[in-house]
Amino acid sequence: MTKKICLTGIKPTGTPHLGNYIGMIRPALELAEKENHEAYYFIADYHAIITVHDKKKLEGFIHEVAASWLALGLNPSTTTLYLQSHIPEITELAWILSCVTPKGLLNRAHAYKAALDINETEKRDPDYGVNLGLYNYPVLMASDILFIKAHYVPVGSDQIQHIEIARDIAKSFNHKFGNILRLPEAMIQEKTKLVPGTDGRKMSKSYGNIIPLFLSEKKLRKEIMKIPTDSLAPSAPKNPDSSFIFQLFEHFGSESEVNDLRAAYEAGISWGDAKQQLFEKLNSALAKPREKYEDFLANPFKIKEVLEESALRIRPKAKALLNEIKEALGLQPF
Ligand code: ADP
Ligand code: TRP
Repeated sequence: MTKKICLTGIKPTGTPHLGNYIGMIRPALELAEKENHEAYYFIADYHAIITVHDKKKLEGFIHEVAASWLALGLNPSTTTLYLQSHIPEITELAWILSCVTPKGLLNRAHAYKAALDINETEKRDPDYGVNLGLYNYPVLMASDILFIKAHYVPVGSDQIQHIEIARDIAKSFNHKFGNILRLPEAMIQEKTKLVPGTDGRKMSKSYGNIIPLFLSEKKLRKEIMKIPTDSLAPSAPKNPDSSFIFQLFEHFGSESEVNDLRAAYEAGISWGDAKQQLFEKLNSALAKPREKYEDFLANPFKIKEVLEESALRIRPKAKALLNEIKEALGLQPF
């Protein structure tokens, strides 16, 4: 039976947060453990340089993202964890794909359109602050996915459009050059596809509403205690389903723990007590990974070893596909 290839990436543009973990990292790690699945998870450093132009910051974020995967249970002997820029075939393929990508497809991409909208609101030139990397982002992402012939791409719902674009590019390529590229499918879990942040919007680095994954116990407690709540009296019944605290708890508690907290909300629990319960739950789930995370950050050579070994494993596959593609295009006339 052919193995199902799973692939996903995270940009090293900030510190990983609970939304990344619940929405993508945890489901991706579960998928990697399934029988007949082969997982390739990567750090999208070439995507990050679209916005991060500070050497120290970028290096730090790359370490943090890699350490997070490893601390949360990625097994590097069965799951290939790699750095995008270690596989130059991906950027080579991106150029080829850009030559079969209609410009109009990229005009409609969300991230580019969002930049245009901000410029319009601010009454600036539409291209202000837009580099070609941002514009081409979906082509590089298509190349990330297509170079390994991925079947499934576990992501949060904000990435659906990018995966649709990757499918469109693959179709356009196959139509011209033969059935070489596999059309990938987004893998999205209904319950975790959009984790809210402390202000109720999607938890995102860009909105400043995140709870970082790896805080010290003391800082985690402080973050949780800071979550804004309404002014209902401590003993007043509260609606669990509109409470960020409860929603976060649901992602970590067992069924009976969640039912107990729901009952406590309905009977009247103080916000302080609800926050304390959430803190204890999160802290016990994250205590062990936190220790491993700190260890990886203190010993970056352990990360380097994993990434270098992965590059050796993947590059022959990437080269083989690229050769097949070049041959189909007429780029190997001799
Ligand atoms: P951010 O929006 O904070 O910049 P990224 O774009 O780095 O996050 O996201 C990395 C992965 O985590 C993507 O697959 C994305 O869909 C997922 N993800 C990020 N935030 C959330 C969230 N709040 N809920 C569900 N998934 C998320
Ligand atoms: N665009 C993704 C994000 O913002 C990161 C990413 C880059 C990615 N290449 C990918 C995700 C390929 C899945 C597959 O989070």
